[in-house]
Amino acid sequence: MIRWPVPGLVVLGLLALGGLLASSCSSLTRTAIEPPAIAGASFTGNSGCVDCHADITRVFPASPHGLFHRDDPLRAGATGCESCHGPGSKHVAAGGGRGKFIVNPGRDASTCFQCHIDVEAQMHLPNHHPVIEGQMSCVQCHDPHGRDALKPAGGLAMARLNESCATCHREQARPFAFEHEAMREGCVTCHQPHGSINAKLLPERDNTLCLKCHSQIQFPAGEVFVGKLDHSAFIQGKTCWTAGCHNAVHGSNINPKLQY
Ligand code: HEC
Ligand code: HEC
Ligand code: HEC
Ligand code: HEC
Ligand code: HEC
Ligand code: HEC
Ligand code: HEC
Repeated sequence: MIRWPVPGLVVLGLLALGGLLASSCSSLTRTAIEPPAIAGASFTGNSGCVDCHADITRVFPASPHGLFHRDDPLRAGATGCESCHGPGSKHVAAGGGRGKFIVNPGRDASTCFQCHIDVEAQMHLPNHHPVIEGQMSCVQCHDPHGRDALKPAGGLAMARLNESCATCHREQARPFAFEHEAMREGCVTCHQPHGSINAKLLPERDNTLCLKCHSQIQFPAGEVFVGKLDHSAFIQGKTCWTAGCHNAVHGSNINPKLQY
């Protein structure tokens, strides 16, 4: 869900919290967003940044955030550089510089949450990457300026998502003698990167996590077949990965059945 920036038009009451948490599909909600405030500064539009930040201004138009930018004075601050960095006139007048009348949202995700309210909700679930705690930032996984926002700046594309996660989680992404083919679909088939109500950022806490790919065939006698084996005795009250059978879910070097 995106808070679509339409200054002056405020539609409230659409954001039932239940809807926020329950839905992963995105929808647009028209509401006013407030760009970060900088006392006494006004909006210059992207053209005010070109002279000194040509590298960023050049790549920005192809980015997801650049794509909805129109250089319309009435929408200044709702789109473009200043929607994340705040009004830039004082920064420009001062000749630029770090910490000079400009917001750097790399240090504080509240700017991103202005529009990405669903991500904010996910980040407040009991298990989450520690972004709101200030131990991580969105830009360690997302490039705010470039064409592909689903990768860190200068990092590996999310198409090779596993490598992207592997910069911090080497253990799970390393090659294994017996690989689990599920890994080819990417870490996000089994983990919700922003947050989850379940431990380990899992989308499901029980065997449905595995059974969405491994079909389970039920026989009248109460036998449950997964693969070629009757699993009915194994999975009672335990998960596929905690019952001691497939604890090496990311891959194994000793056993093709994914055991340590
Ligand atoms: C006159 C030149 C100039 C202009 C115009 C300019 N900047 Fe800067 N800006 C700089 C310099 C120099 C730095 C320091 C960069 C560094 O040390 O690498 C900087 C730093 C920044 C930073 C990092 C701040 C921090 O605290 O980490 C941001 C964000 C930024 N500029 C955004 C903008 C935006 C948005 C605009 C247009 C509204 C803009 N700048 C216009 C010169 C400029
Ligand atoms: C979606 C929000 C967003 C938009 C839109 C955006 N930026 Fe940024 N910008 C960021 C974030 C987040 C960082 C911090 C990046 C980091 O820490 O690596 C950043 C960092 C910067 C920096 C500092 C880079 C450094 O070396 O530390 C500059 C300069 C900058 N942006 C300029 C711009 C300009 C110019 C535009 C428009 C063409 C723009 N930004 C649009 C989010 C945004
Ligand atoms: C002014 C509102 C606004 C702000 C502020 C904002 N975004 Fe966005 N963001 C958008 C819109 C609009 C889209 C495009 C949504 C779409 O295409 O469905 C988007 C898309 C994205 C995407 C998805 C791109 C894709 O390819 O699917 C990511 C990731 C993202 N933003 C991260 C960030 C981060 C990180 C920040 C803070 C540094 C931020 N955004 C700040 C409005 C915003
Ligand atoms: C640990 C890495 C990681 C961090 C940290 C992270 N994201 Fe993401 N984000 C992802 C991945 C991976 C996807 C793609 C999910 C998918 O394909 O199912 C994604 C998708 C998105 C999307 C597009 C789809 C959606 O869920 O709306 C947006 C917007 C977004 N992230 C914003 C943010 C913001 C804002 C922050 C900081 C508050 C952030 N992300 C922090 C990894 C991360
Ligand atoms: C910039 C470093 C970084 C990146 C990139 C990163 N993570 Fe994390 N991850 C962390 C940190 C820090 C924690 C919290 C560790 C803790 O609390 O012990 C964490 C926790 C986790 C956990 C929960 C671990 C547990 O024991 O509860 C999972 C699962 C996870 N990350 C998966 C991913 C996935 C999938 C990706 C790629 C989309 C990813 N991470 C990208 C740093 C990162
Ligand atoms: C087939 C599903 C699946 C895939 C794909 C997957 N994971 Fe996991 N992951 C799990 C399960 C299940 C657990 C919980 C294991 C446990 O509790 O013992 C877990 C646990 C973790 C943990 C916590 C550490 C631990 O051992 O408890 C991290 C970190 C992690 N995964 C990262 C990743 C990364 C990075 C990727 C992609 C390279 C990935 N996972 C792909 C299912 C998966
Ligand atoms: C995204 C789909 C997907 C998910 C989710 C998934 N797997 Fe797999 N898994 C596969 C594929 C594909 C294979 C290789 C083909 C086969 O043996 O069925 C495989 C193979 C295996 C094997 C080896 C089977 C053999 O006979 O060699 C085990 C064990 C396994 N998975 C366990 C799990 C467990 C436990 C989970 C849940 C944590 C899980 N899988 C989730 C796709 C998936």
